[in-house]
Amino acid sequence: MISLLRITAENYEDHLERIVEIETLSFSSPWSRAGFIREVKNPLSTIWAASIDGSLLGFICYWVLDFEIHLLDLAVHPKERRKGVGRFLLGHMIKEAVSKALESIWLEVRVSNEGAVKLYQELGFEQAGIRFKYYDDTGEDALVMRLGFSGSLPVLNCSNVGGRF
Ligand SMILES: CC(C)(COP(=O)(O)OP(=O)(O)OC[C@H]1O[C@@H](n2cnc3c(N)ncnc32)[C@H](O)[C@@H]1OP(=O)(O)O)[C@@H](O)C(=O)NCCC(=O)NCCS
Repeated sequence: MISLLRITAENYEDHLERIVEIETLSFSSPWSRAGFIREVKNPLSTIWAASIDGSLLGFICYWVLDFEIHLLDLAVHPKERRKGVGRFLLGHMIKEAVSKALESIWLEVRVSNEGAVKLYQELGFEQAGIRFKYYDDTGEDALVMRLGFSGSLPVLNCSNVGGRF
């Protein structure tokens, strides 16, 4: 069964190698080891990993601010994709936003990343804008996407955040 593991300043050394491996396999301009250590030590930042039987499959990193969450990083090992891990991690972030009565979750995604955009749309994110030439490596534009919560009621139907696990 899939489980969640909070990556903290106390335990990150046990998991950093695998996280950096997944990151490197997932992005053309991956975060470095130092980048993850900075986030682990940043009080605004939360990192969760999804694992099965002690094997880390993917992770999510986001900042929790006063009224909103900013998604910074989400990656699943290429061999573990399309099994619901990404949805599981995003679902956990969304539940945290709901439980803290936050107003919204924001993220940026490459316009070419159709799989990720589809996943975000399925969870209720909508395009809120575009940042032209946002990515340094390719000059690609970023879609800005937002999931809003009106009052205490999430716009999202929370029944669709579960994975297949
Ligand atoms: C994006 C990513 C995190 C998705 O993780 P995942 O565990 O494979 O996603 P899930 O299995 O939870 O997918 C749930 C749904 O999202 C959609 N989806 C996810 N990946 C997709 C793809 N490559 N193509 C089309 N639809 C996709 C599908 O609707 C999928 O449901 P289905 O499998 O029943 O069709 C993963 O592909 C990844 O790590 N990509 C590289 C890093 C990245 O792009 N991160 C996001 C940066 S903004």
